[in-house]
Amino acid sequence: MGSAVDLRTASAADAEAVATLHADSWRRHYRGAFADTFLDGDLVADRLAVWSERLRSPKPDQVTIVADVDDEPVGFVHVVLDDDVRWGSFIENLHVTNALRRGGIGSALMTRAAQVVAERGRTGGLYLWTLEQNTAAQAFYVAHGGSPIERAYAAEPGGVPGRLNGRPAKLRMAWANAHDLRRR
Ligand SMILES: CC(C)(COP(=O)(O)OP(=O)(O)OC[C@H]1O[C@@H](n2cnc3c(N)ncnc32)[C@H](O)[C@@H]1OP(=O)(O)O)[C@@H](O)C(=O)NCCC(=O)NCCS
Repeated sequence: MGSAVDLRTASAADAEAVATLHADSWRRHYRGAFADTFLDGDLVADRLAVWSERLRSPKPDQVTIVADVDDEPVGFVHVVLDDDVRWGSFIENLHVTNALRRGGIGSALMTRAAQVVAERGRTGGLYLWTLEQNTAAQAFYVAHGGSPIERAYAAEPGGVPGRLNGRPAKLRMAWANAHDLRRR
């Protein structure tokens, strides 16, 4: 990748770009686990409602970081600090625009998320859920020192019934301490 990656805290003005990137990533990578009717419906509007709300009035325990290349958002990560008493802070979303995958942007976002947890989290741990079918993401997390430690069934996106295809599984990836995240 030729251009530099700039990381910054997301603002309300990013809602549309983040929602569009999120919807595109779900359509590419979550098909099979999420229902086609959900993925092929007005997914951008669904994601826009979520991101507009999140970024308009960010909660004090939540941080969204955007990666820009040439002043265009090309990736994002959302962190919920101290979400779980046992597992610590939660990476709720991490997505990189398809054309720039495998260029180090995900690593830059993950490293910044771990820094935020190390600086602001009361508990040191870090975890996330990834779909069992998403073996590429699992390879990415393992490359950063994460371990799959639990299998469970995925929840319906947004809590709305009918958005899943059958009963897909998810894996919990965890780091005992955000400092343990392997930098790349
Ligand atoms: C998963 C994702 C965030 C990773 O970000 P990225 O910018 O593509 O990854 P990076 O270039 O930083 O990869 C760092 C290392 O992770 C590993 N890795 C990343 N993608 C991989 C893949 N598809 N297969 C195997 N290993 C992979 C490699 O070790 C890689 O280092 P290398 O390229 O020097 O071999 C990104 O590919 C993405 O948005 N995927 C689609 C959405 C998604 O699955 N999000 C996660 C939801 S839980």
